Amino acid sequence: MPRLIRQRSSLHGFGVFAAESINKNRRLIDYAGELVRNSETAGREARYLEEGCIWVFRVNRAWSRDAGVGGNIARFINHSCTPNCWFEIVDKTIWIRASRLICRGEELTYDYATVGDHTIACRCRPGCTTML
Ligand SMILES: C[S@@+](CC[C@H](N)C(=O)[O-])C[C@H]1O[C@@H](n2cnc3c(N)ncnc32)[C@H](O)[C@@H]1O
Ligand SMILES: [Zn+2]
Repeated sequence: MPRLIRQRSSLHGFGVFAAESINKNRRLIDYAGELVRNSETAGREARYLEEGCIWVFRVNRAWSRDAGVGGNIARFINHSCTPNCWFEIVDKTIWIRASRLICRGEELTYDYATVGDHTIACRCRPGCTTML
């Protein structure tokens, strides 16, 4: 796996940055977290949202991963509407992959494709009107 580092981000709080250049389509990291049934995520999501954070990642119709419990550095990857990564779900593993060549020092982003309340204004670029 390529070397990734967590640093302050202009998008929000901490973000994850490439410590080396990364080729298109390479797998970067898996989004780790406790596997939780979707029927049990509402309380967790509401609690996290009170702090302005989204940690629960929908895996499929039945399961989600809660990076607030047992997460890795992938939980700090920020959203962008013009991202340089995409996610691929294989069984219950969420792989973050490069959608183009990523240069050393670039911040990693993917499109969260959130399904929740859409209460957080996206700061990916001036004038972005997306609500996460
Ligand atoms: C998975 S965390 C990412 C790590 C976060 N930056 C931190 O330091 O904890 C997701 C949260 O980051 C923030 N975030 C991520 N991308 C953003 C963006 N493009 N614009 C505004 N906030 C963003 C939102 O608060 C979101 O709930
Ligand atoms: Zn945006």
